[in-house]
Amino acid sequence: MTINIDEMASFCKRKGFIYPTAEIYGGLAGFFDYGPYGSEMKMNLKNVWWKYHVRSRSDIVGIDGPIITNPTIWKASGHAENFADLMLKSEDGSFEVRADLFLEEKLGKSFDGVSADEVNKLVAEHKLTAPNGKKFKKCESFNLMFTTNVGPKENDKSKAYLRPETAQLMFADFKLVQENARMKLPFGIAQMGRAFRNEISPRNFIFRCREFEQMEIEYFKHPDYDECPFYKEYEDFELNVYSIEHQKKNKEADKMKIKDAVKKGIMQEWHAYFLALELNWFKSLGCNMKNFRVRQHLKDELAHYSTDCWDLEYNFPFGYKELEGIADRGNYDLSRHIEFSKTDLSMFDEEQKKKIVPHVIAEPSLGVDRAFLVFLYEAYNDDKKRGNIVLHLHPKIAPITVAVLPLVKNKEPVTNKAKEVFKLLQDDYSAFYDESGSIGRRYARMDEIGTPYCITIDFDTLEDDTVTIRNRDTTEQKRVKISELKKELII
Ligand code: GAP
Repeated sequence: MTINIDEMASFCKRKGFIYPTAEIYGGLAGFFDYGPYGSEMKMNLKNVWWKYHVRSRSDIVGIDGPIITNPTIWKASGHAENFADLMLKSEDGSFEVRADLFLEEKLGKSFDGVSADEVNKLVAEHKLTAPNGKKFKKCESFNLMFTTNVGPKENDKSKAYLRPETAQLMFADFKLVQENARMKLPFGIAQMGRAFRNEISPRNFIFRCREFEQMEIEYFKHPDYDECPFYKEYEDFELNVYSIEHQKKNKEADKMKIKDAVKKGIMQEWHAYFLALELNWFKSLGCNMKNFRVRQHLKDELAHYSTDCWDLEYNFPFGYKELEGIADRGNYDLSRHIEFSKTDLSMFDEEQKKKIVPHVIAEPSLGVDRAFLVFLYEAYNDDKKRGNIVLHLHPKIAPITVAVLPLVKNKEPVTNKAKEVFKLLQDDYSAFYDESGSIGRRYARMDEIGTPYCITIDFDTLEDDTVTIRNRDTTEQKRVKISELKKELII
């Protein structure tokens, strides 16, 4: 049995993971503060992502750009004009809601990509009203970009935007990055950081917020070559595939190897590779693949520049929802930035002796906060036998890796020894020292925030320099020499 999203929010607040922002002033919808354990876990999650996607590969390099940049970038990308959701507003103006989410809630199916005309028709057909019974005005489009002014003057010239995605600087800096890092196609550029969207209906805790973080890659390939050189590595990887056909026929997702999905023409090699790569990241951090599926966008859901897009979806307590989007963006972005900046962003192909504009064959775009939520749900277990919650977080993302606990707090030789052990571990692990409360209570506290190892220092330690390591998942205890400790604390 799992907990619903409100119970998860309350657990996160109680245990120091996430709070409503500035709660003493009543908070602010769609904004959250990560507490002592949440901020550690989020940092771990981003570091593990960067290591897997950038440091451990030679074909992806990173950049780190600002949140506010030259506003023309958002004209070129199309966001300034088109980055909008449809909104329903009650006649008295007291109620506003995102139209597709409202219809989904009322009519029990997805309305991704629904048009304004269709919304108006459905509202009339089903006699839908605001909660106070007031009728809706005609559905309107609402741009999600947060604006600000750069410098002391507030006018159109100083108007700038808070980025709604981290993506665009990977295109604007494409040429510099390619030349500086001497990248050859196919290659990718990664970036992570904050993004801002003035969501009409922020909801489901950190699932849909107004300020969040993204970890994104733009992966470029030669426009004439479609083969993915890494595909074989993952060809036997299994996915729960929910294609356009599955959705049209109202069928459940089918589990299949990526090589079979490619053979059947459901997806092409590059997409199959990236879907497997991304799912494997979650798998390598302990997630159960049965809770994930990959859903192909329906044709009318696709952005105008995209020929195919697949979402990694997770089965949240509020249904299967997008966790990560992986779109094929063609050469739309580079071409638009070439047009708007009048800068040549093409590459010269020595073999073909011609200039080419690379294609973004995949843009894996993952929300840090949504990934955070997935790891919490995967880890959460109300262990009735132990009588406390146990978060089975992977040691690589757990906020604290090892807790050092003197058995007693009123015997200085024991606490001094414990502090010595704590110092020994502090540099290599996220370590925590705790001497308050019974040992059982301290173990329970560590279980609840997902600490994989607890080390107890007792009177025997003073005699033989050994300590007890307790494993969070099995509760097994093992006696080891202090000099051997680091070999046992595997992350
Ligand atoms: N550059 C492509 C892009 O931004 P997107 O599907 O709009 O694509 C990518 O966003 C990911 O960012 C989503 O799959 C989700 O994980 C995360 N995300 C988007 N909007 C979000 C929001 N309001 N709150 C939290 N995460 C969000």
